[in-house]
Amino acid sequence: MSSRAVIEEISADEILDSRGNPTVEVSVTLSSGVTVNASVPSGASTGEFEAVELRDRDPKRYGGKGVLCAVKHVNEEVAWALTGMRVDDQRLIDEKLIETDGSESKKVLGANAILGASLACAKAGAAESGLPLFRYLGGANAHVLPVPMFNVLNGGKHGQGGPDVQEFKLVPLGAPTFREALRYGAETYHALGAVLVDAGLSTNVGDEGGYVPQLPSNEAALELILRAIERAGYRPGEDIAIGIDPAANSFYEDGRYCLVRDSKTLTTDEMIAFWADWVNRYPLVSLEDPLADGDWAGFATLTRELGSRVQIVGDDLFVTNRKFLQRGIDEHCCNSILIKLNQIGTVTETLDTAQLALSAGYSCLVSHRSGETEDTSIADLAVALGCGQIKSGAPARGERVAKYNRLLAIERALGEDARFAGRDAFRHLRRS
Ligand code: PGA
Ligand code: ZN
Repeated sequence: MSSRAVIEEISADEILDSRGNPTVEVSVTLSSGVTVNASVPSGASTGEFEAVELRDRDPKRYGGKGVLCAVKHVNEEVAWALTGMRVDDQRLIDEKLIETDGSESKKVLGANAILGASLACAKAGAAESGLPLFRYLGGANAHVLPVPMFNVLNGGKHGQGGPDVQEFKLVPLGAPTFREALRYGAETYHALGAVLVDAGLSTNVGDEGGYVPQLPSNEAALELILRAIERAGYRPGEDIAIGIDPAANSFYEDGRYCLVRDSKTLTTDEMIAFWADWVNRYPLVSLEDPLADGDWAGFATLTRELGSRVQIVGDDLFVTNRKFLQRGIDEHCCNSILIKLNQIGTVTETLDTAQLALSAGYSCLVSHRSGETEDTSIADLAVALGCGQIKSGAPARGERVAKYNRLLAIERALGEDARFAGRDAFRHLRRS
């Protein structure tokens, strides 16, 4: 083991993500001989201020979605900048990447090129020091397994023909361990499949592995999920609660929220009242992007009205960016932040944002993207942060399950030291 290892070679390749779109894979080789890969996910319902994912825009390849330019940036500028640097100084590596890019939005090299390099270096640093990634990033005290949020019913941009609400998630916060939480989730996912078959509805799945039934209303999804929880033998709210991500940007048009499934067009105040009604009548513990991302005043009102009873998560609103999070803290918008590495583009900036959130009393929900790869780093990141929450889609589809299986391995490796976050992950549910 030597902490003196330097980056000897860094290169990239164009691979496919889970939707069949190109994405970046980066390989780092150290002077010690250690070689690791990291790959980058890609969103569909993206926030306006996310770091820029560079695409070739060559209509003759992958409909313009090729990433050969980002690959080239890794093979050239990034390799020139990082070769010879010590691998164990992640902050310096990330600063070098940011400086080499030189733009606020990482549009020059591409956030996909930059994150691939940053993450591969972190993984190489971990491998070099003989530590699992969660311990390398999180230190000696990293031991909390997150509550998984299983996106079992998909709509919006991830499930055409489904509800307007993008994600309906099972939150097995009453489970005693992560392993049991995974079982609660998988059993209930299958029970939901049976409920849909009984109702004569489709069990086709969307981008994140959840079913995409055609329903008469958004609320009908909640009723089906409650039925599935009970059918699987669990108590709604006690064993398994519900989380939703409406991704409200995707149905916000000309200043109004257009819920096609409900034949409703709502103002911000009416949209807030709509969610308040759901919070009153269903065991909802987490509400993500309930309003469009420019609506800071609306978020402040909603947080004032509902923030003591439900977790309100800013995803497109904060885009894992300290600057936007700080505004949210100052203006009392949300009480939780979604953490996505590729929204900001480097590992240390992600850690900084999460740190700021936790120190301000916000919870952190570590997240996959709708376009994923087999890379399981987010599982380690969730344990490293000790934040107690992760979402990685349904307990189905290889790229989703890979993260949950990685968490099983981490829980096994921690043995007696492992602690499952359970209800404590949600501030408003803590029994003091
Ligand atoms: P995306 O969706 O990866 O398509 O952005 C995930 C989310 O909105 O949380
Ligand atoms: Zn979201």
